[in-house]
Amino acid sequence: QSFFKPTQKTSPPTIPTKPTKISIIGAGNVGMAIAQTILTQNLADELALVDANPDKPRGEMLDLQHAAAFLPRTTILASVDYAVTAASDLCIVTAGARQNPGESRMSLLQRNLTLYEKIIPPLAMYSPETVLLIVSNPVDVLTYVSWKLSGFPSNRVIGSGTNLDSSRFRFLIADHLDVNAQDVQAFIVGEHGDSSVALWSSISVGGVPILSFLERQQIAYEKEILLKIHKEVVESAYEVISLKGYTSWAIGYSVASLARAMLRDQRSIHPVSVLANGFYGIDGGDVFLSLPARLGRDGVMGVANVHLTDEEEKKVRDSARTIVEVQSELGI
Ligand code: NAI
Ligand code: LAC
Repeated sequence: QSFFKPTQKTSPPTIPTKPTKISIIGAGNVGMAIAQTILTQNLADELALVDANPDKPRGEMLDLQHAAAFLPRTTILASVDYAVTAASDLCIVTAGARQNPGESRMSLLQRNLTLYEKIIPPLAMYSPETVLLIVSNPVDVLTYVSWKLSGFPSNRVIGSGTNLDSSRFRFLIADHLDVNAQDVQAFIVGEHGDSSVALWSSISVGGVPILSFLERQQIAYEKEILLKIHKEVVESAYEVISLKGYTSWAIGYSVASLARAMLRDQRSIHPVSVLANGFYGIDGGDVFLSLPARLGRDGVMGVANVHLTDEEEKKVRDSARTIVEVQSELGI
């Protein structure tokens, strides 16, 4: 006799629809910041945690289960075996080495490439319809690697890209103008990190293009202030890593916003790392870098036709060329 007795004339249980399942590979600082945000925002029915260290995901699972009284009901799984990820709607990959203070993202490539060659194939095998959301660095190159290793169509292989850079950019602009960051629309595109490109012409505050906003508010429009803000964005990660050893909270919220956009089929636009060939004159080899993309249930639905100035287009092409040069030595 179960604890709960059915009421009279109860209908047979309905066939449950497929639960929404997210798998996170890498239960470290970033993976767990993402996991915590996914749980708080109720984005999944099932959350699988995978790591090479068996104790880590199990410890994190137990600790999060102990918070169940404060969270929406989510089944949390943990294992070193990729079978636990089977039938995922979204696989978020954060496994790998992170930068030491002062170290570049690109310096992580060889170490993380070796890991990805063992991570991506089983993920693709257990969840052939999943969207892969790549976070490990260097994220643009590892997104390209994941596309090649998975054999998935490019719409289902995405890098978190400059979604994080753009949120830093929006914060700094909002702070400078003393407005809410959610009222600042601004895109940073290109490579995540050192050669990212700020789209000045696309910045708007309360729907008003920033250039005319600054003139209307008589805020002295100083190009160097905006250039200084972009420089701060590029230096953000290095500063945070030198202070706390890694970055985690902003990337956690950033990736959860992408998960929501896809799993809730929001069709919203986010600057994420996509197969960029053919956009803005990018050619010379397959390359993933961030452009404003419309995201829905099956990943990338298209790239928004945002205006770039000639200077911005050239910078994006230069960014692409840098990435292609690195990729050309991978032999993938
Ligand atoms: P971490 O060291 O805290 O976590 C990495 C985890 O990966 C560890 O738990 C480790 O056991 C696990 N791991 C290592 N090899 C594995 C394998 N073969 N299979 C499964 N798990 C494995 O590092 P953190 O701080 O979480 O950073 C992770 C990655 O995320 C780094 O590459 C970092 O650069 C990147 N990152 C990317 C950001 C972005 O905006 N794209 C922002 C912040 C970090
Ligand atoms: C960041 C690095 C770690 O932007 O990619 O936080």
